[in-house]
Amino acid sequence: MTLTASSRLQFTPDLNICRILNGMWQVSGGHGRINPKNAVDMMFKYVDAGFTTWDLADHYGPAEDLIGEFRRQLIASGNEEALSNIQAFTKWVPRPGKMTRKVVEDNINISLRRMDTPCLDLMQFHWWEYRDSNYLDALKYMAELQSEGKIKHLALTNFDTEHLQIITEAGIKIVSNQVQFSLVDRRPEVNMINFCQQHNIKLFTYGTLCGGLLSEKYLGKPEPRGAELATVSLRKYKNMVDAWGGWSLFQELLSTLKQLADKHNCSIANIAVRYILDKPAVGGVIVGARLSISEHLEDNVKVFDLALNGDDLKQIDAISQKSEDLYQIIGDCGDEYR
Ligand SMILES: NC(=O)c1ccc[n+]([C@@H]2O[C@H](COP(=O)([O-])OP(=O)(O)OC[C@H]3O[C@@H](n4cnc5c(N)ncnc54)[C@H](OP(=O)(O)O)[C@@H]3O)[C@@H](O)[C@H]2O)c1
Repeated sequence: MTLTASSRLQFTPDLNICRILNGMWQVSGGHGRINPKNAVDMMFKYVDAGFTTWDLADHYGPAEDLIGEFRRQLIASGNEEALSNIQAFTKWVPRPGKMTRKVVEDNINISLRRMDTPCLDLMQFHWWEYRDSNYLDALKYMAELQSEGKIKHLALTNFDTEHLQIITEAGIKIVSNQVQFSLVDRRPEVNMINFCQQHNIKLFTYGTLCGGLLSEKYLGKPEPRGAELATVSLRKYKNMVDAWGGWSLFQELLSTLKQLADKHNCSIANIAVRYILDKPAVGGVIVGARLSISEHLEDNVKVFDLALNGDDLKQIDAISQKSEDLYQIIGDCGDEYR
């Protein structure tokens, strides 16, 4: 199992990443109980296969600690050099309120300590409340910590286009924004992509597989309800599917994707990821990894050998045209959190 060169992106001058990132929300609880030892063993398997880039957050249960343990085991195995081939992108999700230099630095230090690293590759900042403009202070202090060598690059998650613009105009250099983007949730296409292209900001996308709903597992199946939606992720995106057009339209989408998957000798998930990877401004798709519970490495490798043609895109877009407009219903990227 090897990844082609097209799996890589020179994201920043000093960060070369895999365009499928391994999402660690799935280790936080609510997605099944993970075994930490087996989870770290699995992390070696991901990296050996070429999936070297991790997406995590301060509040994803043990995710930052698992990165720390993974780094220590890599060093102990005599492979310290390999550390430079791994990228770990965390987030800080503070409660709104006054942001002093101490508050910011204390929290960045916690992530540094847990991840056992002198410098964070990427800090993706989240803010719950736009009416509280302290987010600009938080970013200003993070920029100071960046110039002092504690953070390589500043990024955001779930910021809408308007506030991304405010931050950019305040002179803070943002390299990426992490947003929900899938065949079901196409809100970034309204404003976000255009702004990101103009300002050289990459998008990292989540929900691209709708927690696994965009796969053969749900093709031709009755609408899953209650306990059948066994992870928080499935529940989150089932709500999106409901708002988007419901289960019967979703089945239409799945069967169209299945026809394309058969034609390209790949899976529904491959088509769903490739479609989003090919969108302008998208740097990478984050695919949730239930480490020690399930894995789809061999299948996800195939994304990088897949090329969708104009006719394929037309068939997919024809289904989107029948759906509700989530931008009208929810608002811009991230508005579901506010
Ligand atoms: N910034 C934010 O607010 C935010 C929000 C949500 C997520 N995220 C990030 O995005 C990551 C992704 O999470 P998500 O909740 O959006 O989930 P997702 O990536 O849409 O779905 C992940 C699930 O898809 C299934 N899957 C993966 N590859 C597959 C394949 N080739 N074939 C069939 N099924 C496949 C697996 O299900 P099974 O395990 O059941 O097999 C996996 O657990 C998170 O870990 C996190 O890093 C960020």
